[in-house]
Order: sequence, then structure tokens, then C-alpha cells
Amino acid sequence: MKSRCWRDVQGRRASDRLRWPRTLLRFAGSVRTAFALSTLIFALAGAGAAAAASPQFNYILHCQGCHLADGAATPGKIPPLIGTGRFLGVQGGREFLVRVPGVSLSIIPDDELAELMNWFLYRFSADDMPADFEPYTAEEVGRYRQEPLVEVEAARVGLLGAYDDSPESAGQP
Ligand code: HEC
Repeated sequence: MKSRCWRDVQGRRASDRLRWPRTLLRFAGSVRTAFALSTLIFALAGAGAAAAASPQFNYILHCQGCHLADGAATPGKIPPLIGTGRFLGVQGGREFLVRVPGVSLSIIPDDELAELMNWFLYRFSADDMPADFEPYTAEEVGRYRQEPLVEVEAARVGLLGAYDDSPESAGQP
């Protein structure tokens, strides 16, 4: 503390003697401020661009680490996204897909998350998509994600059981 005060005093004295360099420094300071401001503006513009991130970009950033590039399973750990369209055919399945923690608790905003849902479902499960599938909307996703699932496995087994029991799915895995 003491030494800092001493240095401040020394610094002030030194700069009192050097008025011209101080003006120069002030000028450099304002240039630096302008530069910092322009950097900030570019950063904000960049953030704006990130806010409009494509579903594929969001998938790579937020999902692929676990669900792999092709949506394949990691047996015993991560279920496949291939085939997830099947959940849309059973009561509660549409909500389930959004309420799983990896989805509901992601930091992706609602509108982008809705896009991501629609994107990965067609990407990894096009053959399983119900013909009357209505794309997820931001409002809908926002509603479902307010109740993240805790007992994921139980919910999952219940839904797939319901799926397997439904007559139209007879014979499918
Ligand atoms: C940290 C690893 C991890 C990340 C990241 C992750 N997930 Fe998952 N995901 C899982 C696991 C594990 C499950 C199985 C359910 C559970 O235990 O949460 C799962 C289940 C799911 C399911 C339900 C599939 C089923 O058959 O049960 C969907 C859909 C899903 N994830 C989509 C996503 C999407 C989309 C993202 C990116 C926004 C994502 N996940 C990010 C690990 C992850």
C-alpha cells in the first residue's frame, strides 16, 4: 500500500515535468479508446451473427460432442438420435425430445433450439418422421424446456413401450 502511494506520487511528479509527452499519451489514449470501441462494435456484430447461428452450427457446438456427427449411439452411454422421429408418433414424445436435459438445459435460445430440433430430426431420422409432423416453434420449445426431465430413462422406456405397443408400429424395433 505504502509503496504504491509512493509510486503514484513519483509518477505524478514525473509527468508534471513532461507535459508534452503526456498530451501525446492522452492522444494515444483516445485512439486506443476509439479502437476499443470499434472492437466492441465488431464483437457485438459478431454476437449478432452468432445469434443467427445455423442449426448445424449449434449441433456441432452443443450436441455433437456426445451425439457424434452422425447421431449414432455410444452403447451404454448415449442413445442414438437416429430414429428419434419415432418419439413423435407417441403421446408425450414430442415434449420428451425437448425436455431431455441435453436439450432443455442447453444455452441455445428458444428460436434456434426449435430450428435445431426440426433440423436434427430430419437429418438423422427422416424415415421415421410422421407425415403430419408440424415443425417445433420457439414458443413451444420454450414451454417444454421449462420442465427439464429428471427421470429420463423411465420416461424414455415408458414412451418407447407405448410406441412398441401401438398397432401401427408392430414389428418395428
Ligand atoms: C453431455 C452429453 C450430451 C450432450 C452435450 C447432449 N446430449 Fe442429448 N443425450 C445425452 C444422454 C446421456 C441422453 C440420454 C438421456 C439422458 O440421460 O439425459 C440424451 C438424450 C437425448 C435425446 C433423447 C433421445 C433418446 O432416445 O432418449 C435427444 C433428442 C437429445 N439427447 C438431443 C440432444 C441435442 C439436440 C443436444 C444439443 C443441443 C444434446 N442432446 C446434447 C447426452 C448429451
